[in-house]
Amino acid sequence: MTEENNNVLITGASKGIGLVLAQYFAENNFNVFVTARSVKSLEELSKNPNIKGFYACDLTKDCLFLYQEAKKVLGHIDVLINNAGAYVCAEIEKTTDEDIKNLIKLNLEAPYKLCRLVIPDMKKRNFGRIINIGSISGIVGEAYATLYSMTKSSFVGFSKALALEVAQYGITVNTIHPGWVDTSLIHGENMTFEDRELIDTIPQRRFIEPKEIAVLAKYLASPDAKGMTGQSINLCAGISMG
Ligand SMILES: NC(=O)c1ccc[n+]([C@@H]2O[C@H](COP(=O)([O-])OP(=O)(O)OC[C@H]3O[C@@H](n4cnc5c(N)ncnc54)[C@H](OP(=O)(O)O)[C@@H]3O)[C@@H](O)[C@H]2O)c1
Repeated sequence: MTEENNNVLITGASKGIGLVLAQYFAENNFNVFVTARSVKSLEELSKNPNIKGFYACDLTKDCLFLYQEAKKVLGHIDVLINNAGAYVCAEIEKTTDEDIKNLIKLNLEAPYKLCRLVIPDMKKRNFGRIINIGSISGIVGEAYATLYSMTKSSFVGFSKALALEVAQYGITVNTIHPGWVDTSLIHGENMTFEDRELIDTIPQRRFIEPKEIAVLAKYLASPDAKGMTGQSINLCAGISMG
């Protein structure tokens, strides 16, 4: 990695996978700019000297100001990690219009808009890495998570299309599809199963560790990964063999 290609913007960095991504990229000498809604967590995280700044916002409302703040602090963005996301666990007939609106805005629209904002500079600099955090639910489907699976599967087509569009500019676009990770996302109030039962459905009988995602994301962010683009990578402890 050259010194010029190490500015990263990570969404959803206040907890869970995004927090570990931010810490791991910071440990590895990236200049990291983070966002989420929880100011306190972002303040705490930014005590790390390689966390160069943060902007607290609701991504369903605000992408432009986030981009502008990140650019002001970092100068330019080499790597965008679209990690923020939410989950709804409900039978289709019980999902509300509000659920539909929120999940589409957060899981789908915000990553799309952030890509739209960062691509022009990446094109000018002939380097860029877009890393989306999808979900194995978007690949194999998940009962009672139709909305979530729909929004996450959209990364497959989006990554392929954008990867083709920007391939000639040294920009790659990939999606990591994690299996179950033990974070607050899977312990929402609607969750009806015990962790033990869940683990029995996973071929490796374990959750994915956030660090496994961070290590893969760091590789995808590196110049060494220049040939890997438009890919959907299942990091799922064997849930999908496809
Ligand atoms: N956990 C799993 O099993 C699993 C599996 C596959 C994929 N994933 C995906 O991995 C990503 C991270 O999930 P996680 O498990 O780490 O979940 P998490 O612990 O719930 O963290 C979600 C992150 O997104 C942020 N966020 C949520 N709503 C937001 C909004 N409206 N505006 C801005 N930021 C928002 C949260 O911060 P604030 O609350 O501070 O805003 C938090 O930092 C998600 O895209 C998820 O779909 C998770």
